[in-house]
Amino acid sequence: MKVEVDIKNSNRLINHGPVVMVTCGNRGKANIITVAWNMPVSKDPPLTAISIGTSRYSHGLISRTGEFVICIPRVSLIKQLWACGRQSGARVDKFKITGLTPSKSKRVSVPGIEECIANIECRVAGSMEAGDHTVFLGEVLRAEVDEGCMDEKGTLITAAAQTFHHLGSNRFALSGEKTLEV
Ligand SMILES: Cc1cc2nc3c(=O)[nH]c(=O)nc-3n(C[C@H](O)[C@H](O)[C@H](O)COP(=O)(O)O)c2cc1C
Repeated sequence: MKVEVDIKNSNRLINHGPVVMVTCGNRGKANIITVAWNMPVSKDPPLTAISIGTSRYSHGLISRTGEFVICIPRVSLIKQLWACGRQSGARVDKFKITGLTPSKSKRVSVPGIEECIANIECRVAGSMEAGDHTVFLGEVLRAEVDEGCMDEKGTLITAAAQTFHHLGSNRFALSGEKTLEV
C-alpha cells in the first residue's frame, strides 16, 4: 500500500544524490554554495546540471562568469558544508569562515576545494528558468579525484570517498560502506 505525499515534499524522494559544494566567482573573490540539486545529464559530451535559487548570491556569480566547480565533500566536511548552505557570500567570505582551502583549477578561473575528494570544472553551456530556481547546464572541462577513491573501472569507492546525501531540512544519510554488483 502506498500513501499520498504532499507534492511539496516529492523532491525529497529523489533528493539524496551526493550533496556538493559549488564554487563560483573568481580567483580573487570566490564563493561556495551548498547544492543538493545536481545531476549528470549527458555522457558525450559530458554535461552536468545544478539548480540554483534565483535569490542566491551565487546565482549572479554563475550567470556573470559562466563558470563553476562542483566540489564533492566527504562527511567529515559536514559542518563546513552546512555553513556554506546557511550563509550568503554577499555578507561573508565562506573560504575564510570555514577554513577550506581554494585549490587551483586548470580549465576555469574559479578555484576548487582542496579538502574535497573531487572537483569537477564546468563552463555554463546553457540555462533554463525553473520556477524559483535556474538550472545551469555545465560542460565538464576537467575532473580530478583523490587517489584511492575510484577503482580502475572508474567507479567511486564509497568506503573511501565517504560522500553523503541530503534528505531535506537538517537531515543527511551516509553512503554505505558496502557496494553491490549485479
Ligand atoms: C544541505 C543543503 C542543500 C542545499 N541545496 C541547494 C540547492 O540545491 N540549490 C540552491 O539554490 N540552494 C541550496 N541550498 C541553499 C543554499 O546553499 C543557501 O541559500 C546558501 O546560503 C546560498 O549562498 P549564497 O547566497 O552565497 O549563494 C542548500 C542548503 C543546504 C544546507
